[in-house]
Amino acid sequence: MRTIMMYSSFLVICLFAMSEQCGCPAPYTQQIVCGSPIVVEAKIESFSENDYDKNYQISVTKFYKGKGVYDTLSNKTTLVTPKGTSMCGPVVLNVGSSYILSVSLYGEKMHHNLCELQVEVSSASNKLLEGLAGQYQENCDCEIPSMYDLPHLGSRSNKQCGHSSCTGWDTVCARDGNGQCNWQTC
Ligand SMILES: *[C@@H]1O[C@H](CO)[C@@H](O)[C@H](O)[C@H]1NC(C)=O
Repeated sequence: MRTIMMYSSFLVICLFAMSEQCGCPAPYTQQIVCGSPIVVEAKIESFSENDYDKNYQISVTKFYKGKGVYDTLSNKTTLVTPKGTSMCGPVVLNVGSSYILSVSLYGEKMHHNLCELQVEVSSASNKLLEGLAGQYQENCDCEIPSMYDLPHLGSRSNKQCGHSSCTGWDTVCARDGNGQCNWQTC
């Protein structure tokens, strides 16, 4: 019995490790927005699927970033998302709902996965909306430490925020009056 229990918990750990193949490199919303060519608000009109992708038909209703780039795209309505967990899918968006979405471009096509920003408009926090209104993009030169970075022992450069004690990912890392990048209040 003991052996079986040990074996099954080992199995659970293995499955957990396998499903963890999608590791998002940049969890903070500011990093996602700064690193994305396009950030929009869009309504989900419909979807279709093939073996690998779920393609959502979207209508963009607002731009937070990248209207100029978007205007050059030949296909402005299809958002390609991966179905596989190892590819950071599946992305579940409800037809008829509106979302704030960050978009990547591969070969002129709009792509989106679970490492990117997907927030239903009706549940967007004030912090997120303030950030999207400009604070994220105005402070893209402020560096957010990765969770794998060791805490700075000495003084940090004025371009770096320290490790955040905030629990949310939407908080802004911005320059204060002294030109030092610091986390704003949580
Ligand atoms: C956009 O891309 C999708 C998926 O590749 C395709 O099915 C659709 O026909 C394209 N639409 C236009 C207007 O090119």
